Amino acid sequence: MKKRVAVLISGGGTNLQALINAAKDPSYPASLSLVISNQAAAGGLQRAEQAGIPTQIIAHIDFQDRASYDAELHQALLGAQIDLVCLAGFMRLLTADFVQKWEGRMINIHPSLLPSFKGLNTHQQALDAGVKLAGCTVHFVVPEMDAGPIIAQASVPVLDDDTERTLRARVLEQEHKLYPEALAALAQDRLIITQNRVTTQS
Ligand code: GRF
Repeated sequence: MKKRVAVLISGGGTNLQALINAAKDPSYPASLSLVISNQAAAGGLQRAEQAGIPTQIIAHIDFQDRASYDAELHQALLGAQIDLVCLAGFMRLLTADFVQKWEGRMINIHPSLLPSFKGLNTHQQALDAGVKLAGCTVHFVVPEMDAGPIIAQASVPVLDDDTERTLRARVLEQEHKLYPEALAALAQDRLIITQNRVTTQS
């Protein structure tokens, strides 16, 4: 049985698109069953609709606090019988209570080589720090932001003439390969977490 996956987005959804493309392969072990956005204008919603995936807008402005927002999110996931959650550019902090309910079943992609450059503007942070390698990380979501056991990383060189835009594009290309692979491994129960380390069984 394929795992039922929800993808949570806030924006353009190029990572969502990469997951959609991967899931078109009949042998892919996950089916994208729901896309939720907190932004009605998120471009990723159209990508989902085009792929025939049910979408739901849960707008944070309609909720008084994070707890009530996350409670609605949780109900939506339960209602769609979701097994696994992928955060893909979902620009909201989640409550510890919600995260704990999905711990081990919720992953995120972050555009830096964690634990370096958490938070926003990761590419500018990398340029400012003068690092020679940048990259992206897929990790399990834990209550602390941009922390959690690391499942996979990909690196790219930082070039002398890089700008924030050129570096972002180079990293994004890797994100689109890494995220579908990591989700496949999770969906096939091939990830073993020991303490803070994740090993992937082949
Ligand atoms: C990606 O860089 C992802 O790593 C980060 O947010 C961005 C989302 O881009 N968490 P997209 O909406 O998938 O194009």
